[in-house]
Amino acid sequence: MKIIGTGSALPKKIVTNDMLSEFLDTSDEWVTARTGINTRHIITTERFEDLATEAAGRAIDASGLCPDDIDFIICSNVSNLYVTPHLSAIIQANLGIKGPNCPTMDVNSACVGFVYGLDLCDALLTTGRARNILLVAAEECTRFCDWNDRNCTVLFGDGAAAVVVTKGDSLIYSKLTSVPMPDVIVYKNPMEPTPYETREGIDTRMPLQMKGREVFRMAVTSASRDISKAVDTAGLSLDDIDHFLLHQANLRINEAIRENLKQPDSKFPTNVQRFGNTSSASIPLLLDEGVREGRIRRGDTMLFSAFGAGFVTGTMILKY
Ligand code: UT7
Repeated sequence: MKIIGTGSALPKKIVTNDMLSEFLDTSDEWVTARTGINTRHIITTERFEDLATEAAGRAIDASGLCPDDIDFIICSNVSNLYVTPHLSAIIQANLGIKGPNCPTMDVNSACVGFVYGLDLCDALLTTGRARNILLVAAEECTRFCDWNDRNCTVLFGDGAAAVVVTKGDSLIYSKLTSVPMPDVIVYKNPMEPTPYETREGIDTRMPLQMKGREVFRMAVTSASRDISKAVDTAGLSLDDIDHFLLHQANLRINEAIRENLKQPDSKFPTNVQRFGNTSSASIPLLLDEGVREGRIRRGDTMLFSAFGAGFVTGTMILKY
């Protein structure tokens, strides 16, 4: 596969740490020092599906294709208003792609959803099941936070980013992993009990809960290990990688990974300072920014590395 177009869209409301400290027991000093995050974009008047469609439309424009050329849509999202229909079907409708020959499916592999989705794109293209795939990562993480809980609320932001992929030989290496650890990051949808429900105390609301320190440690260890293994397996050295696009959850996590790898800061673009943790949208947001600003150029070697709830990881090396 190869990526032939990128696009992104962010909600217009920008929320600073000081704004959060007006109603949460936190401070700009704490959030900046512990996470690197200064601001995040939060959905207010926008509709989430419109944001996802805007990112998708920009990626299609950049690819030089038109919506009807797309014959598969995959959307990565952790949580959104629509449990069904899935978000990729809504994006299809919004883009005016009539079908029926454009299957749609959503992927929820938490913050790694974009890398999981891209791996799936490669499989679909390699086996001839699709020719031009739209992959969207759209997240409204701020919806699953308890806005009275400072532990999670300060970390997240909303955003969407997309790529169009077609047949090509960009992919050098891809490895997905999953280790069952269901309690390190958990969010359960509110569910109404049925009249037949016999269990006492059924959860009707369970906002995001996270073992922050544990996730921090696992993220640094697994990403450092996965990245080293990726370059070794691909017969490359770390110096051959032009851009390390890491999931953006916490600047300190990325800094620790960078130090383990002993690579220069300039190869690690970041957006967590401005956008917070946008889950699976964080890597394609970095990619789109890099491409549009001319920092990521055709022929450059990129490495994507993400970790998230599950506990899942994904590592990919590809030429842009
Ligand atoms: O996409 C994956 C999603 N999740 C992650 O990547 C999370 C990874 N983990 C982290 O980023 C960090 O562990 C956090 C940012 C969540 C927390 O940072 P930390 O350096 O691990 O802090 P901590 O949890 O050890 O808490 C230190 C102190 C505690 O107070 P005491 O016990 O020392 O008195 C917390 O109660 O900071 C307190 N604290 C806060 N203070 C002000 C926790 N959250 C806040 C807050 N504002 N928002």
